[in-house]
Amino acid sequence: MEIIICSSESQVGEVGAAKVAQIARKVGPAVVLGVATGGSPLATYRVLAERVRAGNLDLSQASAFALDEYVGLPIDHPQSYFDTIRRTVTEPLGLDPNRVHVPDGSLDRLESAGDRYEDLIRQAGGVDIQILGIGSNGHIGFNEPTSSLNSRTRHKTLTDGTRKDNARFFSSLDEVPTGCVTQGLGTIMDARHSVLVATGEAKARAIAAIVEGPIMAMWPGSILQMHPDITVVVDEPAASKLIQADYYKHVYADRPDWQKLELL
Ligand code: PGA
Repeated sequence: MEIIICSSESQVGEVGAAKVAQIARKVGPAVVLGVATGGSPLATYRVLAERVRAGNLDLSQASAFALDEYVGLPIDHPQSYFDTIRRTVTEPLGLDPNRVHVPDGSLDRLESAGDRYEDLIRQAGGVDIQILGIGSNGHIGFNEPTSSLNSRTRHKTLTDGTRKDNARFFSSLDEVPTGCVTQGLGTIMDARHSVLVATGEAKARAIAAIVEGPIMAMWPGSILQMHPDITVVVDEPAASKLIQADYYKHVYADRPDWQKLELL
């Protein structure tokens, strides 16, 4: 794992975007992005959008796959991930909406939603770069603790903790859906490159567990330790429980030129 500790939340966005841009340029304009919702990646998307506007990054042929969707929210509900991705990713990054995919969270088609989504990802040739956030309980996507480490896209039930964490986006806790369709941990692990961004002290325990703890289903993000190309970008508060923080800083400061990121 490559761990980059940044001095501020905005630097996390800059470094996260620089990493995504570096890989996207290597892959080319038809890059397949994996995109997360939630607060964590917003700064990264803002910087990526700046890069696109400045002509520094070409995503004109790019496709995107969201990690997850709530069950039972109409797609035009402002908190559906379909609409959230349109607002925070598709429009700012100038992606073609026909090439942006979100799992189908409709109640009447739930049974086949996972397999249909897996087929779409396969047909696109797989995800080149997966952008990830992390829940305070260590979930990635909506793979809650005890999710199978090899799981594929499927229906899951949200924990009370996740519903409480996400209640800030709704007018009350009761409005937060109880179910979701999420890419599985096996699906997420198939992405060729991954960039996980996290900020704030509320994520410190999860970051320490998934980076330095044992690989275990109780901390689903810990499976990323098995990923061949994962970069974890965090601010100081999110890094505050990492035992080896000084080592990661030292590695980053001393990295060879060919590993250096081009910041805007
Ligand atoms: P957040 O959510 O980015 O809004 O903190 C992350 C997650 O729950 O995966």
